[in-house]
Amino acid sequence: MTNVFLSGKKTILRPVSMSDIPLFTRWINDPETRVYLARTFPMTEMEEEDWVKKIGNLSKNPNDIVMMIETKRNRRTIGVMGLHGIDWVNRHTLTGTIIGEKNLRGKGYATDAKMVMLQYAFETLGMHKIISHVDVRNKASLAYSKRCGYVVEGILKEQLFREGGWVDVATLACFYDNWKKASKKQ
Ligand SMILES: CC(C)(COP(=O)(O)OP(=O)(O)OC[C@H]1O[C@@H](n2cnc3c(N)ncnc32)[C@H](O)[C@@H]1OP(=O)(O)O)[C@@H](O)C(=O)NCCC(=O)NCCS
Repeated sequence: MTNVFLSGKKTILRPVSMSDIPLFTRWINDPETRVYLARTFPMTEMEEEDWVKKIGNLSKNPNDIVMMIETKRNRRTIGVMGLHGIDWVNRHTLTGTIIGEKNLRGKGYATDAKMVMLQYAFETLGMHKIISHVDVRNKASLAYSKRCGYVVEGILKEQLFREGGWVDVATLACFYDNWKKASKKQ
């Protein structure tokens, strides 16, 4: 096994590579996926290449740590997960996740990867609070986030314009004790 950065029960998290670019564009442009992402415009491989180069150089951009999710069993790349906008003084960060391979959703992969990512954020990076913003229509994201220990802190009313209408966004947060309690239930 090579290039493993974090290891869970079902998934491993590894660094992003340039060869992941076609996967990102396929996943992010998919209408069923992008409806829940901040992404509004088509994603091109050129733009993706710039982003991968940016997040791939942590010495220049230490505030975004992004990793690919692979299945542990057969090392298939199925998604991506990141800690974004890390605030090293106030020790909080925003998480984002995509299981891009739609047929592999609902199998616990995001939960497994997120639990390992949270452990890394709290116990290695010293983060105090992990935040997530979720479109309230996104039941899967709300469900897995709560399972990982996130708690809804509030609702941002009519925060997004989506498919001709206004959508609320839930702001969720996970502290170390929430994660620790959740990890005992996995
Ligand atoms: C959100 C997402 C990352 C979850 O990944 P996943 O691997 O399917 O997640 P898991 O299998 O670990 O958990 C999914 C949970 O959602 C639940 N779920 C799935 N669809 C649901 C639905 N329509 N209504 C309610 N719950 C639902 C599952 O039952 C499971 O909860 P449980 O473990 O308590 O049973 C994935 O659906 C995804 O990539 N979606 C598109 C991108 C996205 O929305 N990203 C998040 C942006 S905030």
